[in-house]
Amino acid sequence: MKIAIFASGRGTNLAAIIRAKKKGVIKSDISLVVSDDKKALALKRAARGGIKTVFIDPEKFTIKEDFENEITKALEAEAIDLIILAGFMRVLSPAFVGRFKDRILNIHPALLPSFKGAQGIKDAFDYGVKVTGVTVHFVDEKMDHGPIILQAAVKIEEADTLESLEAKIHKVEHKLYPLAIRLFEEGKLKAEGRKVKIVD
Ligand code: GRF
Repeated sequence: MKIAIFASGRGTNLAAIIRAKKKGVIKSDISLVVSDDKKALALKRAARGGIKTVFIDPEKFTIKEDFENEITKALEAEAIDLIILAGFMRVLSPAFVGRFKDRILNIHPALLPSFKGAQGIKDAFDYGVKVTGVTVHFVDEKMDHGPIILQAAVKIEEADTLESLEAKIHKVEHKLYPLAIRLFEEGKLKAEGRKVKIVD
């Protein structure tokens, strides 16, 4: 199976997935990293790992469809089977999601459906919840909404600061995402409506 990872930022999840591949936790080839930000650290990390990268400049396109068609061309050129969103800061159009139906995963740093959006860790911290966590889910047309594959809880202790909570969440993310990818590549995920069964 061939994977493409989409990332706009630091790329620590990308790095964790590369490590998981090296350790044999996942078997698929990480064939392409796509970014919408030329300066993304994720692109450097990918290049360092010997992975092909492509920067697609959203500024070059007046309509989103053209931007996404450019991405699709890059994916088709590599015959990509699975798309992993790892801090990709754009909502994909229903047309794009439909084209890769049930083949796009996302990771969110909170227990969905709580604290959707770009600041899931801070929003949970500020709200004062005692338990937050990490969610890996299939991507559908709505943001942070598709069927849930895996979740892991993270306790917020009184001594936690936003920074310490971020560190705890990221540590969990880096374990959970490779596990979800492994389940996908082993064909163990069966989505029935909103419910994702893990089958043997
Ligand atoms: C992660 O917290 C992920 O849950 C969210 O964006 C962040 C990306 O971090 N979707 P990184 O670029 O992988 O370090």
